[in-house]
Amino acid sequence: MTVLVQRYLDEILAEHADNAEGVVADYIPELATVDPSSFGLSLEMTDGYVYESGDSAVEFSIQSISKPFTYALALDEVGQDAVDAKIGVEPSGEPFNEISVDDQTKKPKNAMINAGAIAAVSLVPGANPHERFSRLLDFYSVCAGRALDVDEDIYQSEKSAGSRNRAIAYMLQSFGVLDDDPDEVLDVYFRQCAIKVTSTDLACMASTLAGGGVNPRTGVRVASPAVVQRTLSVMMTCGMYDATGVWVTTVGMPAKSGVGGGIIAVLPSQLGIGVYSPPLGANGNSIRGVLACQSLSAQLGLHFLSVTRESRATIRATHDVADGVRIYELHGDLLFAGAEQALRIVEQDGDGVDVAILDLSRVDDINDVARRMLIGMREALNKVGKEGFLVDPDRRVIPADRANAAVYPTVEEAVAAARRP
Ligand code: DON
Repeated sequence: MTVLVQRYLDEILAEHADNAEGVVADYIPELATVDPSSFGLSLEMTDGYVYESGDSAVEFSIQSISKPFTYALALDEVGQDAVDAKIGVEPSGEPFNEISVDDQTKKPKNAMINAGAIAAVSLVPGANPHERFSRLLDFYSVCAGRALDVDEDIYQSEKSAGSRNRAIAYMLQSFGVLDDDPDEVLDVYFRQCAIKVTSTDLACMASTLAGGGVNPRTGVRVASPAVVQRTLSVMMTCGMYDATGVWVTTVGMPAKSGVGGGIIAVLPSQLGIGVYSPPLGANGNSIRGVLACQSLSAQLGLHFLSVTRESRATIRATHDVADGVRIYELHGDLLFAGAEQALRIVEQDGDGVDVAILDLSRVDDINDVARRMLIGMREALNKVGKEGFLVDPDRRVIPADRANAAVYPTVEEAVAAARRP
């Protein structure tokens, strides 16, 4: 399998290697000095296995790919209400560096454009800019699974060419969005944009988001699932700027690009992608980076809206043990749709079945809503004149304190209970 996936990555890189479209960003003078031919692609599974191809060890500046991570840190540190009070979650339909706030709310439209990103920096706790930046750098490093550092030349270069961001920061101050000194906040923002990463670092950071906030290589939890869900939602709608519509239809994963030429893409529960190629298209996204992600998504079937057959076989078998008593063997991962389907079938099953025994021994994983539905099954079946029992040998699926659920360690014991008058 590793050989096969490695071959996919190598072929995708080769397929787009000769594409010379696009121009390297030069509004930050130091960015124009990078090698435009660099092309690296990395994929990290949520169990930490990494695939790499091409220039995956070349370091470049993270730029706007920093924005979702600072947003996540702000959400984690000060909570969603405090963040929402300063930054919206709507796509802006404007360039990333537009000097604007939302007409109605007077807040930046989202955290993926500069105005929202600068506001997000100001929400990260810190007694001074140094402390605030240390916190950010530590957070990025824990996500990447190694100690990251700043490219001082890029930082200085952006700082000396940063009039537009200065205009944005002072505008934010005038609207009451920035409480701190705009120049101090900007200094942290310029530093965060200049943090050096490789495409493999980005894949690990993306995979950390894919795993709901746990770094797959180190096992360290960096943020709560709720923070990650919010961050991915904003990446989905705003991460690729005005090209978000094409991106979502052709790639179909929450993502973020940076003018340094990097892109991250996240397939929740499965994998994170990091890609690097400096030449950008008109909307500021890496041309070969987007093409590589389109190819990966098509060839590996990664679009997040592709319809799976997952829920069709939740009931793997049924058998009747006595008059009116039917065993239903459930298997796989039980989420809402699987539990809904299983319980509907159990409830509607005719043929004189008046006792249903659900054998959960082969259920691998279950979420809260499916568990609640199973616990409520007995009451629901009673209403249609049936009895319901569960078999869960080591109480892995239904916790032992749920006494009302009629749970037995074996099918035989459940059948005996069903026969008792
Ligand atoms: O604020 C800026 O101009 C940069 N440091 C980051 C911009 C960026 O990467 C936009 N993304 N595509």
